[in-house]
Amino acid sequence: KADKIELLEQKNAEALLGGGQKRIDSQHKRGKLTARERLELLLDEGSFEEIGKFVEHRATDFGLEKEIYLGDGVVTGYGTVHGRLVYVYSQDFTVFGGSLSETHAEKIVKVMDLAMKNGAPVIGLNDSGGARIQEGVVSLGGYADIFYRNTMASGVVPQISAIMGPCAGGAVYSPAITDFIFMVENTSYMFVTGPNVVKTVTQEEVTSEELGGASTHSTKSGVTHFASANEVQCINEIKQLLSYIPQNCEDTAPVYEYDLEEDAVRTVLNNIIPENPNQPYDMREVIDGLVDDDSFFEVHKNFAENIVVGFARIGGRSIGIVGNQPASMAGVLDIDASVKGARFVRFCDCFNVPLLVLEDVPGFLPGTDQEWNAIITNGAKLLYAFSEATVPRITVITRKAYGGAYDVMNSKHIGADMNYAWPSAEIAVMGAKGAAEIIFKREIAAADDPEAKLAEKVEEYTEKFANPYRAARRGYVDEVILPQDTRKKLIRAFTMLENKVATLPKKKHGNIPL
Ligand code: COA
Repeated sequence: KADKIELLEQKNAEALLGGGQKRIDSQHKRGKLTARERLELLLDEGSFEEIGKFVEHRATDFGLEKEIYLGDGVVTGYGTVHGRLVYVYSQDFTVFGGSLSETHAEKIVKVMDLAMKNGAPVIGLNDSGGARIQEGVVSLGGYADIFYRNTMASGVVPQISAIMGPCAGGAVYSPAITDFIFMVENTSYMFVTGPNVVKTVTQEEVTSEELGGASTHSTKSGVTHFASANEVQCINEIKQLLSYIPQNCEDTAPVYEYDLEEDAVRTVLNNIIPENPNQPYDMREVIDGLVDDDSFFEVHKNFAENIVVGFARIGGRSIGIVGNQPASMAGVLDIDASVKGARFVRFCDCFNVPLLVLEDVPGFLPGTDQEWNAIITNGAKLLYAFSEATVPRITVITRKAYGGAYDVMNSKHIGADMNYAWPSAEIAVMGAKGAAEIIFKREIAAADDPEAKLAEKVEEYTEKFANPYRAARRGYVDEVILPQDTRKKLIRAFTMLENKVATLPKKKHGNIPL
């Protein structure tokens, strides 16, 4: 009997060592943690339950039958974060470079299937040299099994991917389908084809970091939503994200305690909008002024900075915020901003997170670059995403709401539940100068002093349209409110909308312009 227990202990100890101490040391030397250390940081202390610790690969080619590591390069199981259930897998670079074999894939598939049946998030920590080269097509099959489940799980349970080492080739498509990607600066990279292939095919010389590092994907491509300075920060941010979102699509996000009335009036909001309507300000100041203290958690911070998206709490409740950002390109909507906004709106709608839209938008960005790269199709994504969202939706127009962008930014017409405007709001087809130049073109040209005439007409147009009252008269705006009262109004309105039920027409699925 003692022998049998000893055997188990021996196997357990062997599994904990992954590819061996030498490779663990080399992992540490690169500034990377091991698969198990990462899980220890992620999960509540002592909560991890491992599944498939003794799984071995089944390959026999290239002498692989002699090279067996218990667990086969991925640590899988479940545990809790802030007391809530999550399923996890963490690739172990010390075993065949974390490469994905048939059995490695089976282990991931097993936790994904459990997550779907039991309705809890899946968190994947990726650190892998891709398909296990020695296994060939069974490894590719393993990837496809995961991609398929990623797709089936999309909108059912939240899926989070952290890239903490290589993630190349086909491997990138699992994270790509998940809801949020995190990357670590300098130690992680993602690309479909690496620098060597790039050089052969296009003659471009580029490093891994430049081609697919965290800063590239957080600023240029937008592939990653978060870029963290190191692994510890990355894991902490994953935990923070989880605090804003529910376990599955039938659940709602956790509600935090908060004294609702205590600081409902926020006078700081009265002084943010500059006198001059063309002067920028930072929409994050408005957000901070509205939400519970320090609760704003920004997503996609360094990509398409002309739109700001992220989670926050207001009166203890989780909300998703989409705000135009006058501090970047005057808050104009372009392709990247539309796609960023649309993706975020769809996440919130999938997972019952109410939406707050803060609007100050001069319109869509003009130019051949935008038109030729399909601002029409891409702008439509944001319009479509808002239109089909059935979660509680509130808009506050802080300043400009011009043209088609007025319609797109969660207007009453496309299903917003409550629409507020500040006295500084200007709701019109376009800016006063452009409008006056078009509609009074002949009058201005015929005037003795065209400049003076233009100024007069701009004034006339401004007086008529550069305000929220025409929209309020029609009920497109429900109430014009003082900035300082906005927080209180929002807390009440979101509470009023708490039990909102809205259903879309029955269909297989819509056809969002892609
Ligand atoms: N299949 C099998 N084993 C792999 C592997 C793969 N795809 N990728 C890496 N490994 C193994 C290496 O043989 C090495 O084994 P060892 O510890 O016994 O020496 C170990 O993992 C570490 O790899 P190494 O190349 O030493 O690490 P590195 O940090 O220098 O480079 C990569 C990492 C991922 C860039 C490099 O290993 C690589 O290019 N791998 C192949 C990537 C690929 O083309 N994958 C298939 C397409 S999806």
